Amino acid sequence: MADTSVQKGLEDVVALESRICFIDGRGGRLIYQGYDIRDLAERSNFEEVAYLLWYGRLPARAELAELKSRLVTLRELPKGVVQVLDQIPSESSPMDVLRTAVSALAVFEPGETRPGASSIGGAQRLTAVLPSILGYFHRRRRGLAPLQARPELDHAAYLLYALCDATGTELETRALDVALILHADHELNASTFAARVTASTLSDLYSAVTSAIGTLKGPLHGGANERAMELLEEIGSVGRVETVVSEKLSRHERIMGFGHRVYKVEDPRATILREWSHRLGEAKGNLRYYDLLRREEEVVRREKGLYPNVDLYSGSIYTLLGIPKDLFTPIFAASRVAGWTAHVLEEYEDLRLIRPTAAYIGPTDLRYTPIGERS
Ligand code: ACO
Repeated sequence: MADTSVQKGLEDVVALESRICFIDGRGGRLIYQGYDIRDLAERSNFEEVAYLLWYGRLPARAELAELKSRLVTLRELPKGVVQVLDQIPSESSPMDVLRTAVSALAVFEPGETRPGASSIGGAQRLTAVLPSILGYFHRRRRGLAPLQARPELDHAAYLLYALCDATGTELETRALDVALILHADHELNASTFAARVTASTLSDLYSAVTSAIGTLKGPLHGGANERAMELLEEIGSVGRVETVVSEKLSRHERIMGFGHRVYKVEDPRATILREWSHRLGEAKGNLRYYDLLRREEEVVRREKGLYPNVDLYSGSIYTLLGIPKDLFTPIFAASRVAGWTAHVLEEYEDLRLIRPTAAYIGPTDLRYTPIGERS
C-alpha cells in the first residue's frame, strides 16, 4: 500500500528558501528579486535581468555596460568544443547538442568545475556562450555563413543573428529580448530544481546546468513550446481548431502550452507574449498564428478550464522571427541559464544535500534463488 503522505510530483512541497523569484499562482504575478515581470518586460533588457538575478539588485549604468561588454568577451567557443560540435550529426536535436556542448565545455574549462570554484564568472560564461553553441551548430547544419563574434550586438540581437541569416529589426530584436526576460527564471520549476539538486551535492555549475538542460528538454516542461507549434501546423486553419482540439481532448491527450502546476489563473508571461505575438504579427502582416492561438485558447478554456502558459505564444513569435521549431526550447535554455546559475549560486550559500525519501511499496522477504533453479 502506498504511503498516503506521499506528495506525488512534490506538489505543494516547500523544499527550500529563495530570494530570487516569487510566483503568486492565484494572483497571476511573477516577481524577480522584488520586481514585477510586467515592469521588467516593458522597461528592462535581458542583461539587466541577468544582473538582477545574479546580484539581487538592478545595476547602475556603468555596471550594466560592464556586464554587457563582459558577456561579449565570453562568447567565443573553445577549439575543443568546436571540434566536438563538428562531430555531431546535423540531424541531432539542438537540445541534445546544447547539453553535450555544455558538458564538453567543462572538460575544456576545468577551472569552474573544481569543487568550490563555481562563481558568477562561470554563470556569465555559460550565459554568454549558449547562443554561440546554438548558432555554430545551426549555421553548420543549414549551410549558413559561419558565426562571427559581432561585438556590437547585445545579447538578444546576437542570439537572433546566431539563429537567423541576418540581424533583426528593432522590433524583432525587442520581441526576442522580451521573451528572454520572461523565461529567465521561474522559482523551483523542474529544470531549476534539477540544477539545485546537482549543486546540493557540491557538484559544479557546469554539471548543474547540464542536468538542467536535460530536464528542460521534456515536453511537459520547456519542450512544450515546440509541440504547441506542431499542433498549430496540424490544425492549419481557424475553422479546424474546434475539431482537432476536441478530438485530442476526447483521447485524453494534453494540449501543449496550457495548464500549470503553480498558476491557477493566466500565466502573466502568456499575457505579455500574446501581446507581442499580436504586435509582431501585425508588423509582418501575418496574424495567422495569433488568430489560431486565440481560438485554441477559447476551446481549451471552455472544454478543460485551462489557461495558457508561457509556452503557448512564444513559438508564434519565434516563427515570425524566422527561427525553426527545434530551436524554441534551446532559446528557453539560453534565457533560463541566467536563473539556473543564480539558483546554483544561492544553493552553495545555504547548502543542504537535497535528498528526499521514497515510500517503499515492494516486497522485503524474497529468498534468493540460484539462476539454475529459476523457471
Ligand atoms: N491539456 C489537457 N489536459 C490537461 C492539461 C493540458 N495541457 N494540463 C493538465 N491537464 C489535465 C490532466 O490531464 C489532468 O486531468 P485528469 O485529472 O482528468 O487526469 C489534470 O488536468 C491535472 O493534470 P496534472 O498533470 O496532474 O497537473 P499538473 O499541475 O501536474 O500539470 C502541467 C502541470 C504538467 C504543466 C500540465 O498542465 C501539462 O501537461 N501541460 C501541458 C504541457 C505544457 O504546456 N508544459 C509547459 C508548462 S510551463 C513550463 O514548464 C515552462
